[in-house]
Amino acid sequence: MFRRTQPAILFSIIFLSLSGAQAHDGATGVVKERMDLMKTIGKNTKMVAPIAMGSADMDLKAVEDGATAIQNAAIMALEKFPEGSTSEHSEAKANIWTDWDKFSGLMKSLAADAGALAQLAKDDEDFELTDAFSKMANNCKNCHTEFRQKKN
Ligand code: HEC
Repeated sequence: MFRRTQPAILFSIIFLSLSGAQAHDGATGVVKERMDLMKTIGKNTKMVAPIAMGSADMDLKAVEDGATAIQNAAIMALEKFPEGSTSEHSEAKANIWTDWDKFSGLMKSLAADAGALAQLAKDDEDFELTDAFSKMANNCKNCHTEFRQKKN
């Protein structure tokens, strides 16, 4: 019943994004706060993925709640990148602040795409979830590729 758009690629994107989440124990302040928001985004993405991809039972409420949590965390995360806030524990790259329009655009697009996914779930549009999830998850890869330096 689902169109399976490149699930292997999609899952590799998600798990790439999720690996290494435990590597930053020394972070404090705004860096810690944005990492925690990213963890919330990661946790909810992992929860929604198998449902949206059709490999777990349909649960529209779980998709709606998970996508809403991603949307809210993405909106909050944008406030957690004050200029120059790198640290030895952070994986944020300095080009975030030289290319802020692109960085903030990707974060806003994550929030918007997560909001759209939540709305589809709310409206019982279960046939649309796979594409909407893929669109949302592309923001993770696009931003991490350009603006995140894995340190572990
Ligand atoms: C607009 C850019 C951007 C988008 C979009 C984005 N991320 Fe991130 N993410 C980052 C940056 C930058 C870091 C590193 C933050 C730091 O270490 O200071 C990060 C870190 C993470 C971490 C590690 C958190 C930790 O413990 O340090 C996870 C997990 C993560 N992102 C998951 C995701 C997932 C899943 C998505 C998509 C649903 C996503 N991200 C979308 C920029 C983004």
